[in-house]
Amino acid sequence: MSEQIAVEQLAISDWVKELAAIPDSGFTLQNVQDYILRHAVRPETLEKYLFFSKGSYTRNLIFKNDIFECMAICWEVGQFSRIHNHRDQNCWMSAPIGRLKVQNFRVEDRHTQDEHCGTCKLVPTDIYEMDGSHPAYVNPLEPVHQVLNLPEYNQRAVSIHVYSKPFDMCEVYYRDQGTYADVPLHYTSEFGRLHPDEKLI
Ligand SMILES: [Fe+2]
Repeated sequence: MSEQIAVEQLAISDWVKELAAIPDSGFTLQNVQDYILRHAVRPETLEKYLFFSKGSYTRNLIFKNDIFECMAICWEVGQFSRIHNHRDQNCWMSAPIGRLKVQNFRVEDRHTQDEHCGTCKLVPTDIYEMDGSHPAYVNPLEPVHQVLNLPEYNQRAVSIHVYSKPFDMCEVYYRDQGTYADVPLHYTSEFGRLHPDEKLI
């Protein structure tokens, strides 16, 4: 049954400030999900963090401390993430601009080659849609997922991601080859400033 919740609309700066006021011990999957359900980001306050590129979706750091990092991910029409997980870290998401599809996967027959890669089989499981009033979190029991801005949505999307703890690697799954491997992550921009090596197209 869906619950009617009063949602407070906040500027991204206030949204992050309130999130940062949650103590480490209270930064649980449920607490943060409750916070995100009750507090929406005003899309117009995200402007300085938005960088789009035809080459790939972009990752734009908004805030980082020891407990979590918050970023805006900008998706052109038709762009999608690789299939990945977040290496035992929690992840919450919402999409203040546009909408996104999330496809979850179950991993079967996982065989570790070394600590950074191996082989496995992926089975698609849940699919859901995310937008400004429907945030989501990554299920720790089935953490492998892919985020897609489907061509038929026909609009750009911006999602806000909270990762706890912050991390700079993720595990990427190559479904065709039946393999997975660690991949380093980088920011397109940090605190509203484009990374000097970044060439947006
Ligand atoms: Fe993710």
